[in-house]
Amino acid sequence: MSPLADRYGRRFPYLRLSVIPACNFRCTYCLPHGYHADANTTAPLSLAEITRLLRGFTELGMHKLRITGGEPSVRHDLTDILRTAAAVPGVTKVAMTTNGTLLTRRLHEWIDAGLNAINVSVDSLDRAVFARVTGHDRLEDILHGVDMALEAGLPSVKLNAVLLRDVNDDELPGWLDYLRDRRVGVRFIELMQTGDNLPFFRDHHVRAEKLETQLLESGWQALPRAADAGPAREYLHPDYAGRFGIIAPYAKDFCAGCNRLRVTATGDLRLCLFGEFGIPLRPLLQADDQLDDLVRAIGGQIGRKEQGHFLHEGRTGITPHLASTGG
Ligand code: GTP
Ligand code: 5AD
Ligand code: SF4
Repeated sequence: MSPLADRYGRRFPYLRLSVIPACNFRCTYCLPHGYHADANTTAPLSLAEITRLLRGFTELGMHKLRITGGEPSVRHDLTDILRTAAAVPGVTKVAMTTNGTLLTRRLHEWIDAGLNAINVSVDSLDRAVFARVTGHDRLEDILHGVDMALEAGLPSVKLNAVLLRDVNDDELPGWLDYLRDRRVGVRFIELMQTGDNLPFFRDHHVRAEKLETQLLESGWQALPRAADAGPAREYLHPDYAGRFGIIAPYAKDFCAGCNRLRVTATGDLRLCLFGEFGIPLRPLLQADDQLDDLVRAIGGQIGRKEQGHFLHEGRTGITPHLASTGG
């Protein structure tokens, strides 16, 4: 079958699969009161369901998979998920986004299972600020895990810092030191408004443009965007081993390059991070002979993908926080 394309000619080689909505952190912008399961919480997809899902997506042109959460490592069978995913014919890259709590303990196991790329959330290089933002005093151990990933030669290691006014928006000097000798990408992410974080968003949203100007004025050069690039604009400097990235979802045309689809932990297809509806795929993941139906169901929904999100209009869709969709 030929690769899937939507009404705007966008293709979707990239699937973000949330494997669990739960998280052990309490980031101020995401789950400030922690994750709480309620009586209606449905079990996440099983290994067998995930395998069938991935077979369906590869039929439609997916080859890069990113495992997300909540926090993926809260799931006890994460290593099995990675191994199973890496073995699905057509999956060429298995990436994961994590808060890094189990990095030092599990990294080598994950790499042996087939993990190729990791993005780790590190909102601040200042121990006290990190603890205040995430609710956990774990910065040192997480940074050690990042260095282990670099030493292990993982092909892609990136850090994510959500920019927060009056919290961590003055840390460029520290990040410059950090990047000088490390082959790591640090991406500053503009805070996105979600259903749950409106007052916080009003207080702390800051546009990334000032930072971008600072980078350009100090000799960082914007890289041309690759055809299959993610949402970050990237910057290089000859004196630094690492690179910066800026993810600015409020920028005009942010969605024009969208190359990804999402599936929630319980198997709902989400056409956009801020989409209005989820399409339940789980009923089509119950037996191997449902593959054709699954492929038809996914293919049939792509025409409904909107041109972009409506964040700039203050609309957040049905997304209460990004842990619910995997970010
Ligand atoms: P790679 O390009 O594969 O490295 O992935 P990524 O940077 O998209 O992944 P990551 O999970 O590290 O996400 C970084 C930030 O980008 C998070 O804040 C995500 O919520 C955000 N993000 C990722 N994809 C989208 C998207 O399609 N739309 C919006 N608005 N934000 C996104
Ligand atoms: N705005 C921007 N980024 C967010 N993340 C979580 N919530 C938000 C938000 N409201 C980030 C996390 C993590 C990634 C998956 O998404 O910090 O790095
Ligand atoms: Fe957990 Fe990530 Fe949300 Fe922080 S941003 S609470 S680490 S899901």
